[in-house]
Amino acid sequence: MASRGKWSSHVGFILAAAGSAVGLGNIWRFPYLAGKNGGALFVLIYIACVIVLGLPVMLAELSLGRATGKNAVGAFRAIRPGTKWHWIGYLNVVTAVMVLSFYSVIAGWTLGYFVKTLGGTFKSTGKDDVVAVFSRFIASPGLQLLLLAIFIFLTVSIVSKGVSAGLEKFSKVMMPALFAILILLMVYSLTLPGAERGLAFYLKPDFSEINGRVFLEAMGQAFFSLSLGMGAMLTYGSYLSKKEKLVASAAWVAVIDTSVALLAGFIIFPALFSQNMAPDQGPGLVFAILPVIFGKIPGGTLFGAFFFVMLALAALTSTISLLEIPVSFLIDEKKLTRRRAAWLMGGAALLFGIPSSLSGGSVKFFSRLPAFHIDFLSLWDKVWGNISVSVGSLLIALFVVHVWKTDKALAEISAEGAGFRLARIWILAIKYVCPLLILVVLVSQFI
Ligand code: TRP
Repeated sequence: MASRGKWSSHVGFILAAAGSAVGLGNIWRFPYLAGKNGGALFVLIYIACVIVLGLPVMLAELSLGRATGKNAVGAFRAIRPGTKWHWIGYLNVVTAVMVLSFYSVIAGWTLGYFVKTLGGTFKSTGKDDVVAVFSRFIASPGLQLLLLAIFIFLTVSIVSKGVSAGLEKFSKVMMPALFAILILLMVYSLTLPGAERGLAFYLKPDFSEINGRVFLEAMGQAFFSLSLGMGAMLTYGSYLSKKEKLVASAAWVAVIDTSVALLAGFIIFPALFSQNMAPDQGPGLVFAILPVIFGKIPGGTLFGAFFFVMLALAALTSTISLLEIPVSFLIDEKKLTRRRAAWLMGGAALLFGIPSSLSGGSVKFFSRLPAFHIDFLSLWDKVWGNISVSVGSLLIALFVVHVWKTDKALAEISAEGAGFRLARIWILAIKYVCPLLILVVLVSQFI
């Protein structure tokens, strides 16, 4: 493992891990799920899930990764060789490829919207035109396939050259820039007439809307947004030095990630309600409202184009680390070259991304799957982005508690010698709260 790169500094690691966590999950997925699930109620359950489930699982993954110095499959094998436990790792790898497949479709949308915004498409169009532009956009098969292919190609070219050094530097610049743009947009959005109705939707929970789906989608989103349940944080942990404080790092990543998501909501909902647009439009929500804002702001063309570039870059840091999961597995365990592994797995993601990219109206079958009555992209998002990451997190919790044992994990978590004051609470969470809660929410979906 001597050849394994290490992060250059404490801040470097936090920003790189946050760069993986912050992405379309925060700016595209969080607002659309919150809008669909009653707004404030979803936000409340989401934040609870981040604290009660997300943080403990993140510590489990980081410590498992650092203790073994291995990839998403190798870590399980290192601790229990000759058993089937490493199948958790296979699930991680498959989940990463599948998430990458539909994630790249949405990432392609950000590229398309960068070009559209820069070209002046949204200069003075009203909300109906903006919605029409979006519908036409996702229903163009050639364009959708092209954008998907471009995005996967970008990801593969970077990953095939080996990443961590460049990635770390890059996140240091991009994250603060993205944050700054979001703050500006929020200030603008909050001053729009009618913004207070959006704020009420976003902040005043309506408990009569509570149902099983809200819980599953909030829980799944917490894991998805923190990049948990698919071996990503595990792999990141394997690059961490023993001097690093895991608890502080995990807390920082969660705080940064959650702030970006909440900020996105403060932009989207006031603007939506000021335009009398519905919050429950599904995956297209952000792409239907943001251009309306850019059409109104002075200098909105450039500002909007800049926004979509930053969003595309945030998506790129996420797709890079998504692809890194299967790639480091193939390099370490199957002795493939980095180049070959990156092209192979990128190719697989492209193949599985095709139905998602054609599910916005261009191919009828994918746009409304007969048995499910939803489009392929929404189905894939639900299966891999909600259910599989929850199952993955459940399995990691079970593995750490029953196979690796919590005393070993705790020793790793406080390896830098600082001690871990919340150790008891963590044990309680990872041993009882996480498995039980995840199980109950998952099972309630199927009965
Ligand atoms: N957290 C990322 C986002 O919010 C998406 C994601 C999920 C991810 N799992 C990952 C990114 C693993 C990198 C690695 O956009």
